[in-house]
Amino acid sequence: MLRKRRARMAEEKLDLSQSIKFKSHQEQLAAIAFFNAAFRAEESGLRQAHALSELTARWDPDLAECLKLYGEEEGWHRRLLTEFLAWMGGEVRPMGRTTRTFYRLYGRAERMESIVLVNLMFETIGSTTYRLALRRATHPAVRQILTILTRDESFHVPLNVHFLRQALARAPGARPRLRALYHVTFLGLVASTLPSRRRAERFDAIPRPVLSRAYAVELARLFLEETDLGLEPSSVLLRAFGLDGDALLRAPSAVSLEAAERAAERESVVVEAYG
Ligand SMILES: [Fe+2]
Ligand SMILES: [Fe+2]
Repeated sequence: MLRKRRARMAEEKLDLSQSIKFKSHQEQLAAIAFFNAAFRAEESGLRQAHALSELTARWDPDLAECLKLYGEEEGWHRRLLTEFLAWMGGEVRPMGRTTRTFYRLYGRAERMESIVLVNLMFETIGSTTYRLALRRATHPAVRQILTILTRDESFHVPLNVHFLRQALARAPGARPRLRALYHVTFLGLVASTLPSRRRAERFDAIPRPVLSRAYAVELARLFLEETDLGLEPSSVLLRAFGLDGDALLRAPSAVSLEAAERAAERESVVVEAYG
């Protein structure tokens, strides 16, 4: 499937024929901040996927190829975002303090299962943010890039669950540490909505309570059904965010094999705004 998707990547182009007029300079700066955050996520995904591809090549060439192709999809997103930023009068900027701290910590992770877990959580909040931004976006080019990113990230989420399962199979003792990492990253990502709203809300119009709630819901849902992974959120965490595990379970899983298959065929995926 990843090989097939690669062939289609080359054909898909952004339509940037209509220029964009921002309501204010602040809105333009917020849009540039929004797509810079996306750029950094793609860059990090690309780098980590290719590092893991090299690592796994020794023991599982098929998995290594999957990781390589997956990384190339992120590389393609990064190119689209570079083009898009220039079109809106911006550029790739040096990272802000919060972002830098995040990626520095993440860059220090060495074990495959930790890298994949954090990456999976980044993919989850990425696709959640893009889908929420689609609710308000009106410019066709903005809608097009958000749709491409949402569509592809919703395939990457279950794909990374697959990677995680492979990594855990080789590190059976890693679960307790991984579960702690999941909870810490969960809290960190929900907290990251504060600086992110300061920088990007004027563009994406997603209020902080809406964004942090959506992050909590989607991150909590991730492993509820995948009980074999042993990464379910603790009841304390669920209660702290006012979440009901049973209600979350009733929603269709975003990470199952069926979800991956639903999201894999680029041309047949229907992307809907969040909520
Ligand atoms: Fe991506
Ligand atoms: Fe992705």
